[in-house]
Formats: sequence, C-alpha cells, structure tokens
Amino acid sequence: MKEKQLRIGMIGYGFMGRAHSNAYARVNQFFDLAYQPVLKAACARNVEAVQKFADNWGYESIESDWKALIARDDIDAIDICVPNNLHKEIALAAAAAGKIILCEKPLSMNAAEGIEMCEAVEKAGVANMVWYNYRRVPAVTLAKQIIDSGRLGKVFHYRANFLQDWTISEDVPQGGAALWRLDAAAAGSGVTGDLLAHCIDTAIWLNGGIRDVVAMTETFVKERVHADTGKAEPVGIDDACAFLCHFQNNSLGLFESTRYARGHKALYTFEINGEQGSLRWDLHDLHRLEFFDYNDEGATRGWRSIHVTDHGGEHPYMDHWWVPGLQIGYEHSFVHQVADFLKGLEDGKPAGPTFRDALETQRVCDAVLDSAKSREWKNVT
Ligand SMILES: NC(=O)c1ccc[n+]([C@@H]2O[C@H](COP(=O)([O-])OP(=O)(O)OC[C@H]3O[C@@H](n4cnc5c(N)ncnc54)[C@H](O)[C@@H]3O)[C@@H](O)[C@H]2O)c1
Repeated sequence: MKEKQLRIGMIGYGFMGRAHSNAYARVNQFFDLAYQPVLKAACARNVEAVQKFADNWGYESIESDWKALIARDDIDAIDICVPNNLHKEIALAAAAAGKIILCEKPLSMNAAEGIEMCEAVEKAGVANMVWYNYRRVPAVTLAKQIIDSGRLGKVFHYRANFLQDWTISEDVPQGGAALWRLDAAAAGSGVTGDLLAHCIDTAIWLNGGIRDVVAMTETFVKERVHADTGKAEPVGIDDACAFLCHFQNNSLGLFESTRYARGHKALYTFEINGEQGSLRWDLHDLHRLEFFDYNDEGATRGWRSIHVTDHGGEHPYMDHWWVPGLQIGYEHSFVHQVADFLKGLEDGKPAGPTFRDALETQRVCDAVLDSAKSREWKNVT
C-alpha cells in the first residue's frame, strides 16, 4: 500500500461504475505514482445489488444513500457514475463537504447547472475532473501531439461522427435502469449530451474553442412506454443531431450523431484537415491513427496508418503496457485518466478536463439544442 491513499466513494454500479472501479484497481500496477486509490465504499439504492458489486470489485463497504456516503470522513473522493440529472446535486454536496470530485460526463444537464458546479468546486478548493476518457486513448493523445507540433499547419476542417443503432425499435422503453438515456428528465438531452458531448470535448481539446453553431435535431419515435408509469409518454430527447460550427481558429466544423444508423454500434470518428496534413481516427480501430503528411516525398505520399503501440516514449502511455506492437483497448483510457489525475494531485497541477473545461462543452451543447429549436445560428456564450 502506498503512503498516500485516495479513499474512493463510488456512486453507481452500472457501466461507468465498473469501468472506473477497474481503473482504480489496475492503475498502481502499471503506473508508478505516489497516490493509491482505495475502494472504500460503493453506493446505490438497491442494497443487494450494490453489495454484489462491492464484493466483486473489492469495495470495503456499501451505502444506499449518497448523502450518507458524502457525510463519511473516511472518504476523500466522490466518483459520480449516475444519470445526468443527479450530477449537480451530488457535486454541490460533495464540494460543500470538501471532497475531491470525479464526475462522469456530461458535466450537467445544461450550462446553468455546470456554472453552479464550477463555482462550488472552485469555492471549496477541491480537485475535480470530468471523465471525457477519449482524450486518453493513445492514438487520440498522439493526434493532439501532432496538432500541437504544428505539422498540420493552418486547420480548415474538423468533422466528427458518433453513430449507434440501438433505439430504432419503437418497443424500447424510456426511463429506469439503463434506459434513463431516453428519458429527458434524467438525461437532459439525447445524443447531444450523451454522444456529441464526447465529440465536442475532443474537438475543443484538439482544435480550440467553438464560436457559433447551427443545428438540426430529430426525434424519430415520438412516444415510448415509460418505465416509471407503464404508459406511453412523449419522448423529449433528440434521437439524432447534426450541426455545423465555426471554431475560434476560423476552421469549419461538421458534427453528426444518431442512434438510428443501422449497423453502427459506437462508431466515433473524427478527421481534421490542415494545409500541411490531415489526421483521422476511428473508435472501432482505436489504436490506429491515420496521418497524411503533405511534406512527404511526392511519389510515395499517402495516408499512413500508425499502429500506436510503440515504446521508448514514441507513443503516449504505451511504455506502461505490454511490448511494442501489442495493443490496448477501451478500458485503458480510464486507467490513463486515473493515472493522470493522481499525478496531478501529486504535483499540484490539475489534470484536465476539469469542471471548468467541461463547462465549455456544456455551453456548446446548449447552443446546439437552442439552434435546433429556433432554426437559427447561435453564438456559444
Ligand atoms: N465516459 C463515458 O464514455 C461514458 C460512458 C457511459 C456513460 N457515461 C456517463 O456515466 C453516467 C452513468 O452512466 P452509466 O452508463 O454508467 O449508467 P448505468 O445506467 O449503467 O448506471 C447508473 C447507475 O446509477 C445508479 N443510480 C441511479 N440513481 C441513483 C441514486 N439516486 N443514488 C445512487 N445510485 C443511483 C444506478 O443504480 C446504476 O448503478 C452518466 O452520466 C453517463 O452519461 C459516460
């Protein structure tokens, strides 16, 4: 056990509760850090289910009320892995109790909530982070390094897609476990906050801020049975969203997300085109980065596919894993995020994205939804 412990209170045991627990459990075996996460307590309303989760992952104890978890003085950090409508209330209470906060994305239901959350953590002076984990896929981090080195030159275009197909059937209900994403009261929005938020976070990180947007959204299935009432209720989320934007560097952005792209499960792709080169990345082939360098010798110039697995400091994070040529996967992006967060605590330099960074994505999402409603260009304010 390391000298410095970070005692984790995990709220939620679903998809992200598992992804984060795995990251806390693995991080010290692969990264040499002063801090060690300790799985102190897991919290969810269903005692039996949360006990099973705690036993499986090695949490020392459970709570069924998140307020009781926050009140405990043997917890240093609260990890928020619950539906979006609970993020603000939990974060404000955790900040008031002086806890470090790691919050799942999107930061909040909207920018107004996000502002309150930023003010709360900044007033309390507690370390905070939002789990936009795709930044820490090695191929995406390599894209950032190439862009920051100036090799793409002046950027003209950024385009991103996040395509799924799991809500095409009208029989999929809304609300309740796992399907809260279809319930506007729990999710805030549909694909905009759920999927485009990832695309927007990566885009801002790689290509800078977004100035203005024009968007369209569609809700293909207008009514679905609600898990709480058992009755058909209007659907308030966007099933699909596409938007155009200007970045602050004057490049043009094109974003699309839908849960109605038959055949696509989680196809997150982005491409960036500059005067001297282009990059593209695809979540379904996440360890590869494609790069076109216009400065290559003409006869052999072409798109190259970089297998981002090299050691010796060549490829981000990879020195910590197996041997060159052997790839890693989705769950490692969370391990990297925990590693960077713990290093940030050690060095006193916060790892991004902080709540304040993630608020920027929230502002873009608000402008996108506003624009779709009014059918007008909207400034990101
Ligand atoms: N970073 C990513 O790529 C990524 C991926 C998936 C989800 N998310 C985000 O993570 C969050 C959780 O999503 P998920 O997919 O893990 O959801 P999930 O439905 O799999 O799990 C949600 C959990 O919240 C618990 N919960 C709900 N209400 C609660 C309450 N009042 N008190 C305590 N526990 C409560 C549920 O019991 C469940 O364990 C969401 O904000 C989502 O947007 C992020």
